[in-house]
Amino acid sequence: MQKERTFVMIKPDGVQRGFIGDIISRFERKGIKIIGMKMVSVDKKLAEKHYGVHRGKPFFEPTVKYITSSPVVAMVLEGINAIEMVRGMMGKTNPQEAQLGTIRGDFGQFIGRNIIHGSDGKETAEFEINLWFKPEEISKYTKIDETWLTE
Ligand code: RTP
Ligand code: MG
Repeated sequence: MQKERTFVMIKPDGVQRGFIGDIISRFERKGIKIIGMKMVSVDKKLAEKHYGVHRGKPFFEPTVKYITSSPVVAMVLEGINAIEMVRGMMGKTNPQEAQLGTIRGDFGQFIGRNIIHGSDGKETAEFEINLWFKPEEISKYTKIDETWLTE
């Protein structure tokens, strides 16, 4: 069982609509460990780097505008198979297609306002964690429930 790190961002609509607590609570209940967390007013440069793989696509500019429109909550989460686990908890990119019970399925209606971001693979996670967090912003600690999450 491999522990992984992933980068998660509660997007401006998630913050504005008051879902920070609910979203963080879902990760806590699942036993996923928060090892970094901060509120960020994203500038254009950071947004363009973060969504760099989508440069040239029709939704690139609107997505950069969306993500820079109001603060986001950036997090580094750690857990067994955390990248896939978090993507599953988020639901499909388009909230119209996301299952009820997922974050996007419960809170979203439209692909352009889909509440949350999570890294989509190991390399992306590493790139995004390094892009958003300095090493000293990531905390190393043992959480009291850790021994109850594995055999
Ligand atoms: P994210 O990167 O935000 O976690 O989302 P994702 O992997 O599920 O989806 P991705 O394909 O990487 O798209 C990045 C973000 O761009 C916006 N988008 N809009 N209007 C559109 O067709 C469209 N497609 C993508 C969404 O905010 C999406 O999360
Ligand atoms: Mg993506």
